[in-house]
Amino acid sequence: MKGVILAGGKGSRLYPLTYATNKHLLPIYDQPMIFYPIQTLVKAGITEVLIVTGDIHAGHFINVIKNGKELGLTHVEYAYQEGGSAGIADALKYAEDFADGESIAVILGDNTTDADIAPAVNKFEQNGGGAMVFLKKVIDPERFGNPIFDKNNPEKIIKIVEKPSSPTSEYAVTGLYFYDNDVYAIIRGLRPSDRGELEITDVNNAYIERGKLSWSELDGFWSDSGTFHSLFRSSRFWAQKRLGIKYKEIVAGNAIPKSKIA
Ligand code: G1P
Repeated sequence: MKGVILAGGKGSRLYPLTYATNKHLLPIYDQPMIFYPIQTLVKAGITEVLIVTGDIHAGHFINVIKNGKELGLTHVEYAYQEGGSAGIADALKYAEDFADGESIAVILGDNTTDADIAPAVNKFEQNGGGAMVFLKKVIDPERFGNPIFDKNNPEKIIKIVEKPSSPTSEYAVTGLYFYDNDVYAIIRGLRPSDRGELEITDVNNAYIERGKLSWSELDGFWSDSGTFHSLFRSSRFWAQKRLGIKYKEIVAGNAIPKSKIA
């Protein structure tokens, strides 16, 4: 399985920070945001990665990621998405040549998680295709893709609704997906949504209609980082995790081990 990290868009919800650089290069505690999804893939044994970016700061990525070796990547490619905010599914179409017939693990570059996805990678490869999404319980499901479950079979998703005004479950569809090679044909058949984007939710609904979408609950922390609030939440979590201490100890400062203070 190969990895695809989607790191395009203007990051307009984070202006003025994103006037300076691409959202996915902003810091989450002590690392650029995009290092976290790279590490999630590398930990699962996925070391060939395509980074799809775009807009005016696209050139910054190569300065930071270089050839990916320091991050454990064996092969890194970059693609440039045209059309500014054409959508996540539009960005994914650039992965077709890179994937070269293999399945792909896709992560949105502003999603971070400490979950181990290796078992899910193995399961997906054994099951032989389709698509897989990862769900996480959240307090604000209206901000995300939100699954509707079958009333007669609570294990079965019958549809995903993008940013519903009245969510029917407590789950967000996280920005972490596995797809087989059918995904490119599905993308070619999509039409832009009301917000003018090719929606990843429409891709996932196409797999549901074919009876080929499975799901798994992410076991661990997960958050996006595209707003000031979620960026702060992610930074706070990763500071705690990487220092191995609680947030209130970080604030107190004197509880941080001397070795961790520059
Ligand atoms: C996107 C997807 C949404 C998903 C979310 C996860 O939303 O469209 O389905 O739940 O990422 O971060 P966006 O951040 O583009 O609004």
